[in-house]
Amino acid sequence: MSTYRTPKHVADRCWQELVKHQKNISRLHLKEMFKQDPGRAEKFSREFNKLYIDYSKHHITEETVSLLLSMAKSTDLSDAIKNIFSGAKINQTENNAAMHMALRAPADKHYFVDGRNVTELVHSELQHMQEFVELLHAGNVKGYTNKPIDTVINIGIGGSDLGPRLATYALSDFAVSSIQIHFVSNIDDRDINSAFEQSDPETTLFIISSKSFTTRETILNAETAVKWLKENGCHSLEKHLLAVTANHDAAKEFGVKDENIFHIWEWVGGRYSLWSAIGLPIAIRIGMEHFHDFLNGASTMDQHFCEQPLENNLPVILALIDIWYINFFHSQTHAIFPYDQALNMLPAYIGQLIMESNGKQIDNDGNKIEYNTSPVIWGDIGTNAQHAYFQLLHQGTPLVPVDFIISVTSSSENKNHHKELLANCLAQSEALMNGNTVSSKAPYKNIPGNRPSTTILLHELSPASLGSLLCLYEHRCFVQGHIWNIDSFDQWGVKLGKNLSKIISEELRQGKDNNVTHDSSTERLISYCLNKSESS
Ligand code: F6P
Repeated sequence: MSTYRTPKHVADRCWQELVKHQKNISRLHLKEMFKQDPGRAEKFSREFNKLYIDYSKHHITEETVSLLLSMAKSTDLSDAIKNIFSGAKINQTENNAAMHMALRAPADKHYFVDGRNVTELVHSELQHMQEFVELLHAGNVKGYTNKPIDTVINIGIGGSDLGPRLATYALSDFAVSSIQIHFVSNIDDRDINSAFEQSDPETTLFIISSKSFTTRETILNAETAVKWLKENGCHSLEKHLLAVTANHDAAKEFGVKDENIFHIWEWVGGRYSLWSAIGLPIAIRIGMEHFHDFLNGASTMDQHFCEQPLENNLPVILALIDIWYINFFHSQTHAIFPYDQALNMLPAYIGQLIMESNGKQIDNDGNKIEYNTSPVIWGDIGTNAQHAYFQLLHQGTPLVPVDFIISVTSSSENKNHHKELLANCLAQSEALMNGNTVSSKAPYKNIPGNRPSTTILLHELSPASLGSLLCLYEHRCFVQGHIWNIDSFDQWGVKLGKNLSKIISEELRQGKDNNVTHDSSTERLISYCLNKSESS
């Protein structure tokens, strides 16, 4: 197997020019760059569809951007963008297209997979969702005692949980129904028990959300839900179960009625699926009209990504800046700080999107790669993080590029809180960049600054702006993966974990009487758990 230190399809000359350029630019403090060029903020910012993106606080000049673009062009990035929109099977290891853009396309925009117009399928499923959501909101979905359903528990994990959970919380200002929604993902039964405690079995509907319908956490939680319903006297289980899946037969076998099975397709990756019926909890919370606004916000960003030249293309610009840090400054992590309580799930959501997509070390030609790919994505609500982790950002040794995300306006009556939030967010990006020299006698008090960040301002936190924002990250992630020449749409590493836990789970249930041999550490851990649980 060959090994590569530069992505195989990047012109080496372009990569080496960036290596050289990095040496020069890293001598310049960001503060100095702003002094030298007062037009920086204007030059390195863009406004699109109610998002204002400032990427001026980065170690870049016009020359950097131009070198990064040349490097990207040497990989035929524009063709790669056309290719994903064409429905080509770019997920080579699973022989699948990555056609999540069809999930948010208007009905007259046709996207094809295997010669089939999949937008048609999507819109028929959206119609299915609409009919269900309207019935539910009107109180016409009834439980086994004929009372209207007033609580929905979404059971799913990973992409079948994080996206709907994020958007349902984020858009609660747009709620049009008083239906309670809970999310259960963890196999630790405290998670589902806590949802049960807040729910009445007579009026609770479970959405079993699983593309594969084989994920152990989800199926076990779904079985526990069925048990809870039965224990509470439910004699018409089918009234309380709904499924979203690409595995219709398995859902049916589980006991879900045909009309309660919502479809997704193999060409939708789990972490790209919140735009589909996996987003049903979002539609239940905000109604179909707002759900369509959410899809439109994303679709507008799709169009931008597909049509804009690379130098004006926001996902491309941000991805190239990411590559700049990861591959030329050797940064290992990237932080996401939303300054909005409603976006508290955003770091986790972006974490799955980027790390599951780009946490790879074999390129598309089967070669081992020796350049860095996905950084570790981490983050938290901004103000909370300031009082917990920002010490490292200001004075620690690692270089951590940061994304600050905040809505400029707030729906809250009390504007003081929001002004404080805004002030904190803007002040932190300024402080990270400028630093602060206090004293030569007490160097530990000095803040070096020179730390890069992007600030993304949303005009408002709305279905459309959230749709555009999430879609921006999706395409940014795709561009990174393209430059690294990796498959951003498979996840074999996570699948390994699924299979391993199956074996150990049997050993823990039945005692270790199979012939499987683990390493001595795992053997001892299993024995320890078996002994302790037997004696407890
Ligand atoms: O194991 C990883 C993963 O496949 C994710 O990619 C996916 O979002 C999650 O598990 C849940 O999968 P499913 O929707 O098939 O239950």
